[in-house]
Parts: sequence; structure tokens; C-alpha cells
Amino acid sequence: MDSHGRNIEYLRISVTQNCNLKCVYCSPGSGGVEDANCTVLTAKDYKTIVGIMAGLGIRKVRITGGEPLMRKDVCGIIAAISGIPGICDISLTTNGVYLDAMAQKLKEAGLMRLNISLDSLKEDRFEQITGANKLKSVLKGIDRAVSIGLLPVKINTVLIKGLNDSEIDDFIRLAKDAPVDVRFIELMPVGKFGEQNQDRAVNNSDIIASHPQLIPCEDEDVNQPARYFKIEGYRGRIGFISPMSHKFCNFCNRIRLTCDGKIKPCLGNNGETDIAGFLGDARRLEAAIRKSIFEKPAGYSFGAGFVSKRNMGAIGG
Ligand code: 5AD
Repeated sequence: MDSHGRNIEYLRISVTQNCNLKCVYCSPGSGGVEDANCTVLTAKDYKTIVGIMAGLGIRKVRITGGEPLMRKDVCGIIAAISGIPGICDISLTTNGVYLDAMAQKLKEAGLMRLNISLDSLKEDRFEQITGANKLKSVLKGIDRAVSIGLLPVKINTVLIKGLNDSEIDDFIRLAKDAPVDVRFIELMPVGKFGEQNQDRAVNNSDIIASHPQLIPCEDEDVNQPARYFKIEGYRGRIGFISPMSHKFCNFCNRIRLTCDGKIKPCLGNNGETDIAGFLGDARRLEAAIRKSIFEKPAGYSFGAGFVSKRNMGAIGG
């Protein structure tokens, strides 16, 4: 529990700051620091840290990056974590470029499900946003994940006015024939692009209002940020993650572990606790983790002159 009474049970682990895409709103060019050569935790370190965290109530783990599939031993990391008692959900967020080749191995290592970031369904625009002509690889990766049953597959889309907001209906249609959930994430002021382009963020309420075919799903878990809707005859759902228009910090149940060994208890604050130095001392390591969780800020500082020290690629979303 943190000092605000929230039950912290979800850990996001960044395993690398490297990425094979350079998305406008996420990569170093968008501001913040990235150090591709930063010291990184090993699979054994992750096992030690997650083992202690599981004892403190962490139940769900998500592997992020950078691009986590750039890390050669990502399957080893997943396997090390999936054996830890108390951890009942292991997922991963990827850009999907290497997914077709790696999905089966990830599943065998213990991965249960996947989120895939995808911001355009048009080849030229995909390249404009990401700097690489890789849309076909990503779509193949999504098909592979669905066919081997890494379900539910969720697609994350960050909409930016004048860039990809003309594709909203194409994204919604993805959920028609395939069992994928399509989720629109409001652009956050993390990194220079997000800070300077808040006027280009798409308010999710506007999409919901202009799509009367969306039927709200009942019985939702308040501890996950997406609000889901169904559409008659569709296999997947449409989700809205609305940190800017509907702040959900009161329900936040997560902390983050960076690949350079820092606990980052809030995406929208710069506070971090370096725990790498305590890896040889389980008692001090646990004490540092407890303190960092307890002191998790009540809410993000977006809009209060906040400037993130890390771009999103060095946090992992
Ligand atoms: N605002 C909102 N979402 C972002 N993501 C990366 N940067 C931002 C931002 N500034 C998303 C990615 C990925 C997820 C982990 O976070 O698209 O899907």
C-alpha cells in the first residue's frame, strides 16, 4: 500500500532504452535523455527485485522498453520472472517489428499477452511517424500473436491532430474481424513533442461522442485505465485511455522499474529511487522498495510546468 491507500500491485519493467523505431513523440529526438549504453539490470537482477516485490504484493508485471524485443535475453527475463510465486500475469508492450519471429519463443518463456503500439495503418504515414518502413512487419506480428493465442492482443494508438487523426475509423475497424482490442491513448506531455503539442492531443471524449455505435462495457476493473466499449458484430473492443481529459491517478496501482535500476513510482513526476546499489543486500533492497512505493506521489504534475527528465522511450510508457 502507498501512503494514499492505493494497493500497488502492478510493476512495469523497462528492459532497455534502445528502440528500432524513432517515433516522433517518444524517441530522444523528442527531448529528454536517453542513454543507449546505460548500465542495465540482468535477468538475475530482475528476478531478485521482482521476487522481493512479489512479497510486497506485486501481482502483475509488464515488460517494456525502449523496444523490449531488442534485448537479446528478453525470453530469459520473462522465464526468470514467470517462475516467481505470486506473479500471476506477465505481459509485454512492443512496437511489433520483431514480433512475427519472436512470438512463439515469448509464449514458451511464459508470456501471457501483448500490447502492440501502432499509430498508422498507412505505409507512408507509418514511416513518417516512426522513421522506418515497417508497417507490414508489424501487421504480420499482430497476426502471429493472435494465431498463437497471446490473447488478448491490444493495439495502442496515440492520436495526434493533423498527423493520424484521420485514421480513427480505420483503427476502430481493426476490431471488427480480429479479436483485438484497439485503444486510443491521449498524448501526454512527456518529452518535448508531447509538451509542445498538447493542442494537437485528441480528447477521447470527442471520439466517444461522435461514435454512437460504441456501447459501454459493464463490470470493468477500475484499476486499469482503459474504458472499454463494444460495437455490435465486432470481435474486439474499443478502449480509451484518457490521462489528460480524465485523470485516473486516484486508481493508479502501478510502479515502474527502469533498465538502469531505478524505481519510478509516477510517470508524471521526476522522482526516482536508485536501487541497483542494494542488489547485494536483500534487506536494504526491500527497505528501499517499500519506501519508494509508500512515497508514490498522489498524482501527476502534468500542466504544472512539469518537464519530464526522461522521454517516454527511457520510461517504457
Ligand atoms: N503520450 C501518450 N502515450 C504515449 N506512448 C508513448 N509516448 C506517449 C505519450 N507522450 C505510448 C506508446 C506505447 C505506450 C507504452 O505508451 O505509444 O503504446
